[in-house]
Amino acid sequence: MRITNGHNLRIALQNDGRLTGRSLELLRGIGLEFEEHERRLFARCRNADVELLFIRDDDIPEYVQDGVADMGIVGRNVVIEKRARVDELEPLGFGFCTLVLAVPRESAATAPRDLAGRRIATTHPVALRAYLDREGLDARIVEIRGAAEVAPALDVADAICDLVSTGTTLRMNDLRRVGDLFESQAVLVASGAAMEDEERAALIERLRVRLRGLLTARRMKYVTLNAPRSALPRIQEILPGMKSPTVVPLAEEGMVALHAAVEEEVFWDVMERIKDAGGSEILVLPVEKVMR
Ligand code: PRP
Ligand code: ZN
Repeated sequence: MRITNGHNLRIALQNDGRLTGRSLELLRGIGLEFEEHERRLFARCRNADVELLFIRDDDIPEYVQDGVADMGIVGRNVVIEKRARVDELEPLGFGFCTLVLAVPRESAATAPRDLAGRRIATTHPVALRAYLDREGLDARIVEIRGAAEVAPALDVADAICDLVSTGTTLRMNDLRRVGDLFESQAVLVASGAAMEDEERAALIERLRVRLRGLLTARRMKYVTLNAPRSALPRIQEILPGMKSPTVVPLAEEGMVALHAAVEEEVFWDVMERIKDAGGSEILVLPVEKVMR
C-alpha cells in the first residue's frame, strides 16, 4: 500500500549506533519498504514519498528543528541536551537509558551532594547544569568529547555524568552510580514547520497512527478460550481488558468460545484465575500475526 500524497517527507535516523537497528525495524514494521546501504546518507522508500536521512544522533534534534528533516527518531536525552524545539509525537519503547552520576569505586562519595566542590566530566553539560542548579549543588562541570568514563582514571575529574543502559561501561571502568538525573528512551519527533504544512502534517499523522498501532499491537495478545456461558461475567471481571469479547456458542450445551485482544502483561498475571473461573483451552497468539 503506497503512503503518498505527493509530498516528500524526510525522516532523520541515527546512522550507526544503538538506535539504528530498532529504528529501521520499526519503520519496516509500519510498512515502509527501503534498502539501506552502509555509509549512504539517504535511502528512498519504494512504496512511499519518504526519504530516510542517516546522520549522527547528536545532529538529529537540530536538523528536525531547522526543518532539514521533517521527522526524526532520537533519544529524548539528545533532544534535551540540544535544547531543540521539536514536537515529541510518541515514545517508542526502546533505547532505554538513564543519565547518571558515577564515581570511582574507591571514592568516598555515596550521594550527589558529596560531589559539592568536585569536578564532574560529561558530554551532557546542559542536562548536568540544569540538574546542579535545580539541586543547588555547586560542582564544576568538565565538558569533554568522547568517553567520559575514563576521565576519573586520568584525574581529569572526580566523577562523571553519563548515560547508562546495560551498566557494562560503568562496571568495566570500576565506576559506581551515586545518583540519577533522568530516564530516557527513543522518541519520534517532528519539525514545527512540517506540522504547520497541511500536506506534510497529514502524512506525518498517517505514519504516527501506524506507529502507534504497531506499538499497541506488540503489547497485546489475542486470546481465545472456552468457558461455560455462566462464567462469562466473572472472566470479564478478572480480565478488564476483555471488554467486548467475541462470544461464539459451542456445540456443547452452555459452552462458549471467547476471543479478545488483551494487554499481554495483565493477561499472564490473571491466567490462573481465569482457569479457576472455568476457562479452558486457552490459546494466546501475537496480535501482529492475527492482523496480517
Ligand atoms: C553511551 C554512554 C556509555 C554507554 C553506556 O554511549 O556514553 O558510554 O553508552 O552503555 P552501557 O551501560 O550499556 O554500557 P553510546 O554508545 O550511546 O555512544 P554515544 O554517546 O557516542 O552516542
Ligand atoms: Zn552520540
